[in-house]
Order: sequence, then structure tokens, then C-alpha cells
Amino acid sequence: MLDINNKLQEIKDNNLYREIRYLSKPQDKITVIDGKKVLLMSSNNYLGLCNNNKVKQASIDAINKYGLGSGGSRLTTGSYDLHKELEEKIAKFKNCEGALIFNNGYMANLGVISAICDEEYYIFSDELNHASIIDGCKLSKGKIVIYKHNDVNDLKEKVKANKFKKGIIVTDSVFSMDGDIANIPEIVKIAKEYNLLTLVDDAHATGVIGKLGKGSSEYFNCDIDITVGTLSKAIGSEGGFVCGNKNVIDFLKNRSRSFIFSTALSPVVISGAISSFDIIQNDNSLILKLQNNIEYLCRGLRLIGYEVDSKSPIIPIMIGEEDKALKFSKSLLDEGIYIPAIRYPTVKKGYAILRITVMATHDYEDLDFVINKINEVKNKTM
Ligand SMILES: Cc1ncc(COP(=O)(O)O)c(C=O)c1O
Repeated sequence: MLDINNKLQEIKDNNLYREIRYLSKPQDKITVIDGKKVLLMSSNNYLGLCNNNKVKQASIDAINKYGLGSGGSRLTTGSYDLHKELEEKIAKFKNCEGALIFNNGYMANLGVISAICDEEYYIFSDELNHASIIDGCKLSKGKIVIYKHNDVNDLKEKVKANKFKKGIIVTDSVFSMDGDIANIPEIVKIAKEYNLLTLVDDAHATGVIGKLGKGSSEYFNCDIDITVGTLSKAIGSEGGFVCGNKNVIDFLKNRSRSFIFSTALSPVVISGAISSFDIIQNDNSLILKLQNNIEYLCRGLRLIGYEVDSKSPIIPIMIGEEDKALKFSKSLLDEGIYIPAIRYPTVKKGYAILRITVMATHDYEDLDFVINKINEVKNKTM
């Protein structure tokens, strides 16, 4: 126990200690966290669908029809007609032959990368990829080669420098902390030239980028072999997915351990996700509103001195030292705005950020309030 106690103390001494905060109201722009009413500026509920009435009704209908738990794993008794309907919907939305639902995006990355990449694979992975990609790579038998963040020249050099039989390039499309977007057209070009597969994680891109919110393949109009995503962000539900051609999906059904060895998602969350896809497929106004809000907030933050130009709802403000980031976040909370300080191990030590996210449900008044308060706190504390 002494070892654990020492490690815990070290975390505290370095301002890296984290505590869970509890919400007692829905995940909306105004919510209640640890008993305090706040304007939420850090949610991944980008389109506000977590608390959408139609989505909630779809889940209520599902619980009445099917009950709560799925009761089995996907290959035994846990797959319902709703799982099939959602997989078909996702495949159509992403213009792919097939899709497969996992229990979350983390398990999708873990299960897909580790199933595909045997010992003959070289995996070329962006240095800022999400932890679930990193862990999927580690769990696979492939040789991992890390390239500099979003640096296609470095990627190409590393691809050229290695001799491999089979290879894959894996990248987030929208990076979860920096909010920037991978240079996917160049990545696809390199992949074609050197006969590599491409795997793109559209967790923060689905329902977000592209006029119809279809994610990176729409945004860049290019072909990606395998797309992973989550239903827990813009889709407002829970679950992960992978899309690709029919054989990729069939193979994963048979070999992906996180798909096979876990109880299927509840019909309740699946039904909610179906309803979310229906909403965004019938009408892209929420997506356009989100994109407009991103532009508005970036413009306002530039006017108070921050060099931000995000095309995604993730707008990081670099603070650096962990204690400064904590203080900044605390001062904003005192003003009624919730933007957590993101610290190691999510970002590098000494590179703490305030990770602002914007939602379609924010209006200009909310965003102006945030810009003014950030300016005030900056002038007081920095
Ligand atoms: C880029 C990225 N991939 C995957 C995940 C995991 O998705 P989930 O929360 O559904 O496990 C996340 C965030 O949670 C993410 O940011």
C-alpha cells in the first residue's frame, strides 16, 4: 500500500489530482454540477441531443418494449432488431458497406486495431492520437511507429524508412484535446502510394464536420478504409462503432475481442441513437448552428488576444502550468462557467489547457458572456 500512497501523494504534489464532479441536471448548456448552477462550456454533447425530447421519447419507447438490459453479448442473445437498424443507419450515413456497434468508442478502437494488426503489421500512429488508439496499438501485435502530430512529411519519411509487409495509418480526425483536424487527404495519398490501410477515428467529427455532419470523409471528400466513431458525443447517446467494407465488418464480428466478450448495449441507448441519426439526417440545422457558433466564439476569443481558429467545437486555450490552469478554471467557475483544466496525462506535463467546447444550443449571449468573463479572469490572474 505504501507504494500506492506515495504515488497518490506525488499526483497531489504536482497539481495533477483529479476529482469526479457530479451533475444533478441534464447535460444541457445550463446544468448543475456539484450543486452549482453553471453555463456548461466543456461538454461533448455538441448538438444538444442528450436531452432532446424526441431522442428521450425513443428511449422511453424502447424501455417499454424491450426492458432495460440487453441480457447477452452480441453473438449470443444481446443483439436486438434495433442494433441491426442502427448499424444499417450508421453504414448509410457514412457511405460504407457495413457498420458494427461496440459498447463505446474506447472499446471500438481497442477491438478493431488489436484484431486487425497481427505481428506482420506496421502501425503508423499520430503522436496525439486518443488514448483508446494508443491502447489498441499496444494490445495489438503490430510494430508501432509514432509520427509527429499532423505532420505528413514526418509520416512519409517514417513510412519510407521502414520495410513492412502490411501496414496501417491510424489517426484521430478531430483531435480530442487540440481540436485540430488531421490532414486526411495527404494521409490517404501516402496510404495509396505505399499500400497501407487507413483507420480514422471520427469520434469528434461525426455529427460535427461536413455540411451534413458525416465526418471526415464528407469534409475532405475522400475514401477512408476504416472509420471508428462514438455515439456518446454529438449523437448524444452511448456506444461506439466501426464502418468499413463488408469483409472488414464480418472479420471484426468474428475476431474483435471487445466486441465478442462483452454484454451488448441496452436497446434503450440504441433506440435513442437511432432517433438522433434521424434528426440530423432529416435536417442539418443543428449542425450548421454548431458550425456558426464555433466561428463566432473563435472570433470573440481572437479579439481578446487568443490565437484560436478551430474548425471543430473543441477550442483549447493554452495555459501551461497546471496550478495556473486550475486557478483559471476555478475563477471561471466562481463566475458560473464550467471549463475544466485539462492536465497530464491527458496532455503533456506543463502544457495544461482550458478545453472550451461549444454546442449548437449555445446562443450569442452565452458566448459573449464567456468571452467577457475569460477576458476579465485573464487580466486578473495572468
Ligand atoms: C478521439 C476519441 N476516440 C475515442 C473516444 C472514446 O469514445 P467513448 O467515450 O465512446 O469511449 C474518445 C472520447 O471519449 C475520443 O475523444
